[in-house]
Amino acid sequence: MCGIVGAVAQRDVAPILVEGLKRLEYRGYDSAGLAVIDRQGVMGCLRRIGKVRELEDALGEKPVQGGTGIAHTRWATHGEPSERNAHPHTSDDISVVHNGIIENHEELREQLQDLGYIFASDTDTEVIAHLVHHERKTSTTLLEALQKTVVQLTGAYGTVVIDRREPDHMVVARSGSPLVIGYGIGEHYVASDQLALLPVTRRFQYLEEGDVAEITCGKVEVYDRNGALVQHEIIDSDLDHEAGDKGSYRHYMLKEIFEQPEAIANTLEGRLTEAHVAVESFGHNAREIFSKVEAIQLIACGTSYNAGMVARNWFEDMGIPCRVEIASEFRYRKAFVAENSLFVTISQSGETADTLASLRLAKDEQGFIHTLSICNVPGSSMVRESDMAFMTRAGAEIGVASTKAFTTQLVSLLMLVVAIGRCKNRLSESDEATIVAELRELPGVIRDVLQQKEAITELSEDFADKHHSLFLGRGTMYPIAMEGALKLKEISYIHAEAYAAGELKHGPLALIDSDMPVVVVAPNNELLEKLKSNMEEVRARGGQLYVFSDPRAMLVAGEGIKVITLTEVSDLLAPIVYTVPLQLLSYDVALIKGTDVDQPRNLAKSVTVE
Ligand code: AGP
Repeated sequence: MCGIVGAVAQRDVAPILVEGLKRLEYRGYDSAGLAVIDRQGVMGCLRRIGKVRELEDALGEKPVQGGTGIAHTRWATHGEPSERNAHPHTSDDISVVHNGIIENHEELREQLQDLGYIFASDTDTEVIAHLVHHERKTSTTLLEALQKTVVQLTGAYGTVVIDRREPDHMVVARSGSPLVIGYGIGEHYVASDQLALLPVTRRFQYLEEGDVAEITCGKVEVYDRNGALVQHEIIDSDLDHEAGDKGSYRHYMLKEIFEQPEAIANTLEGRLTEAHVAVESFGHNAREIFSKVEAIQLIACGTSYNAGMVARNWFEDMGIPCRVEIASEFRYRKAFVAENSLFVTISQSGETADTLASLRLAKDEQGFIHTLSICNVPGSSMVRESDMAFMTRAGAEIGVASTKAFTTQLVSLLMLVVAIGRCKNRLSESDEATIVAELRELPGVIRDVLQQKEAITELSEDFADKHHSLFLGRGTMYPIAMEGALKLKEISYIHAEAYAAGELKHGPLALIDSDMPVVVVAPNNELLEKLKSNMEEVRARGGQLYVFSDPRAMLVAGEGIKVITLTEVSDLLAPIVYTVPLQLLSYDVALIKGTDVDQPRNLAKSVTVE
């Protein structure tokens, strides 16, 4: 949720920290701050409510400089967004930034108050600062003080600590919230996401759960939860340095919508042979595992859950039982686990707290035969903790509203369905060849759909003064209606609900009037006639329909109905293709409404707290 950057160098690190924060701002953006120590041991700290540019402006007026520093961009959990609740939090010489939630913070706060500590904020984080300060009194090193501190914490943390009296290093700890160490030449860095550090390095070491580390200009020492010195693999990032830039686009979201043809081509790259999906792209032993799989359990949140809903249809069409569940529900109930079930998490970030907790539960306590992560971030917790991982390769997605991550998840899931279907002989060789050929066409089809931008912009004007809307679909298009509604509410703040169109007359029809736009995803498929009846039910009650369809569906614009006609596509690809105009519609509506498209209120990109 929040973003962390830290650096130790021979030069002034403030510019590295600010650039890193800008790149992480999509993760949380209600306040930002930094603390920097110079060679004389003077610590400068600056915090501002609002976006990183407020902090940058403040730095312009009141520069702070130094070779060791930490910085943070916040998404409030404990304590309202305010300057006093912004990170870093300090306790005398100690300064701390933290991502995650300290669940026992109230108890610790009381203990620390009894010891005479005075709290300056309402945050859970401040207990870390005071605890480190307290433990430092009886520890020989700052690292030891942090080690003594973390064993007292319950909850999740990725935290970085500096001490004014020891300006040459920083210490860090990770449990439940990711941290990655960046390797430079004669300088080192830490961040909650490698994206923050791409301008200064491409070499990274991810910390594991329970790790603590000490970082100086010359060395990095990582210790596991038992205190043993460990060295995890140092990877070279293949993320594009420009990944964090908007280019000529007005918003990241628009850029990411238009990147979908290329992102999908990357997802497919090297994973399709002439007429097959390369099963081994899911892992060297995937063929053996997939042959044994008898059922699938998909777990995800938000947009990723919607992708899972589409995939359920695909799996079950092939006769492979599939359940899909929201992670925050799954983890707190006794779910039935069918024999030989494959557990699949779907996540853009690979760090979503509920999805990650479900994965851990599946591994530790439930009888799944294997775990697979469909994910966009290499090195993320889910990727590292799953038996198998399949990267969606969408590239960095900065806009909080997920766009290219969703369509590449669908493409990845479709490849998974095909791979399992073939391994289990549920899919003929010729059907596989047809799907593979269609997948190859997909980037071009999406390019065609993107040409409809202008027509969709015109439609969007009708939505700008509305407060509510309905999205309808049937079959695999119902989850696409869900995704369309999620996008619209997320960035335009218009209340949007999705219904399986057949449900309309069981309640929501009562809402229909001329102020309730009804968006329908209506490709020509075997459910079209049923859907047309549902549309008539809306029209007969004075509702206004906005229909996305294709020429074969023969839907004509007229009184109470506007139609956007898309390229004809197969039933299988339709969910992926029909997502795109709904993304554009939400974007255009948000633009007219003047909302913060890339960083909508109250939200954050990566939800690493429950
Ligand atoms: C989508 O636009 C969202 N911002 C959100 O629903 C997101 O998909 C969800 O939080 C899950 O994130 P993940 O894919 O990173 O796990």
